[in-house]
Parts: sequence; structure tokens; C-alpha cells
Amino acid sequence: MIRVVLLGAAGRMGQAVQAAAAAAPDVNVTALVDQGANHPAGAVGWSSDLAAVAQKGDVVVDFSSADGARVAAAVCAAKGAALVTGSTGLSDADGVLLRETAKRVPVLRASNFSLGVAALRVALRAALAAVPASWDVEIVERHHRLKKDSPSGTALTLAADVRRARGLPEQAIRNGRSGLLGPRSSDELGVHAVRGGTWVGDHQVLLAGEGEWLELRHVAQDRGAFAQGAIAAARFLVTAGPGEYTLEDVLRVVAPPAR
Ligand SMILES: NC(=O)c1ccc[n+]([C@@H]2O[C@H](COP(=O)([O-])OP(=O)(O)OC[C@H]3O[C@@H](n4cnc5c(N)ncnc54)[C@H](O)[C@@H]3O)[C@@H](O)[C@H]2O)c1
Repeated sequence: MIRVVLLGAAGRMGQAVQAAAAAAPDVNVTALVDQGANHPAGAVGWSSDLAAVAQKGDVVVDFSSADGARVAAAVCAAKGAALVTGSTGLSDADGVLLRETAKRVPVLRASNFSLGVAALRVALRAALAAVPASWDVEIVERHHRLKKDSPSGTALTLAADVRRARGLPEQAIRNGRSGLLGPRSSDELGVHAVRGGTWVGDHQVLLAGEGEWLELRHVAQDRGAFAQGAIAAARFLVTAGPGEYTLEDVLRVVAPPAR
């Protein structure tokens, strides 16, 4: 049985992970952690202090905030629990902290835990290698009106994949366009955030040539998609040694490449 300590348990993703874990025969959520003010009314057994309950788990699953992810990294390194973190809005310094944590325990951070997005990234690399280098790339993401960070962590991950494949600097990114900017230059990479309604997560990568375009798109209909990926990541990490892992490592186990 995999013992999961859940940070951000009262939130939208926390609830989705609880539901996914309840349906998984090999996973047991042994501690629910959230800020005291957000504990459900009448809830018993909740904690506000991750450090006090971390030893109840083999793995901490974190969907809270950048602050929460920092706490989770420090606690996991100190207590020896593996860390699955989906919190977004992390800084470069937070990335360094997670790399340090990964020297002591297994860590899997993903800005999008959907296995479909992991597959989208594989498909994007293949598409970028297949189309002429002159084709323009634009990323459009849509999320619900309550989302705090823009563009989404997933859009930034996809943009980083494009920049790596095309050798583009970070300054190539254009977040929205307005005014008399003139023609698009060939070394731009558009990343555009649309906000409204209840969209769970929609990412389109457009590769545009002369008179034709190719579109790769992933739509998350339900937070359950992220929760399933986080549970798959927890299963993967409890068999792994210290180190930084990606969802593609998990994908290779749950969907091994066809021979
Ligand atoms: N990686 C993914 O697949 C994925 C998917 C959806 C959301 N997210 C990210 O996960 C995070 C949570 O998303 P959500 O939609 O569930 O948000 P939410 O606001 O519904 O829930 C967040 C919960 O975390 C708690 N929290 C925040 N900081 C905390 C801290 N320091 N200590 C304890 N509890 C803390 C809040 O009280 C709240 O209950 C966000 O960063 C979001 O961008 C990631």
C-alpha cells in the first residue's frame, strides 16, 4: 500500500487527488494537510503542519502553492519522503531548491500532471523536427477565471520545449500583441493566455507555414486527469531512488514505447 500525505488537500486539486486515491486499491491517503482556515467544517484528522505528519507517508503529493511547494521540499528532504509536486508559479530559486531536494529523495515536479500533456510534449518534439524550421510557433492556453498565474505553467513548459528545439532565447516569447508592431519576426514565440468560465485546461500549439498549419491540442475536461497522473507519479516514485524525474519517465512505464 502506498501511503500518501496530501498537501493542499482542501483545494480543487486536493479534492480530485482524494477522489482518485479513494478509487485506487493500492493507495491510501494517510494525512490531509491544508491551511487551518481551509479545513472543511467539522473535519477530523486534518493538519496545518506538514512537518508534523510527513512521517505518515511514503510520498508527499503537493497541489498547494509555490509557498507550499517550498515547505514540502524542505520537509521531504528532512523526513525522507518522496515528493510529487504540481504547484505552479515557482521561481528559478525554487527550481534550485527542488534539485537540491532531489539529491536526497525522489522528486517529480510537473506543471501539468495529465499523461495526455506528457504525450503532447513527445508529439511536439516530433512535429518540430518534421516541419520546416521557418514555420511559426504560437501557443494558446485557456483556463478558468480563477486561475492566478498566467501564462499557465504548462504553456511555459511547452514554450521551453519549443525554445530548446529551435535554439531561441527566453526573450523570444511574446505574451499577447497590441499596437502597430509590424510583421511577426521569425524568431518570435507567441504564448497567449485566455481566461474565463470554468475551462480546466486547454493547450494548443500551432505550427504555421505558408497556406497551411498544424495544430497539436490537449484538453483536460476534468481535474481527475491531473489527479490520475499524480497518483501514477506517486506509484513510480516509491520504487525510485533519489533524483529528479519527469512525467515522461512515468509514461515509459505505464505506456512503454511500441517496438
Ligand atoms: N500540475 C498540475 O497538473 C496542476 C493542475 C491544476 C492545478 N495546479 C496547481 O496546483 C496548485 C493548486 O491548485 P488548485 O486549483 O487546487 O488551487 P486551490 O486554490 O483550489 O487549492 C489550493 C489549496 O492549497 C492550500 N495551500 C496553499 N498554500 C498552502 C501552504 N503553504 N500550506 C498549506 N496549504 C496551502 C490552500 O489553502 C488551498 O486549500 C496551484 O499552484 C495550481 O496552479 C497544478
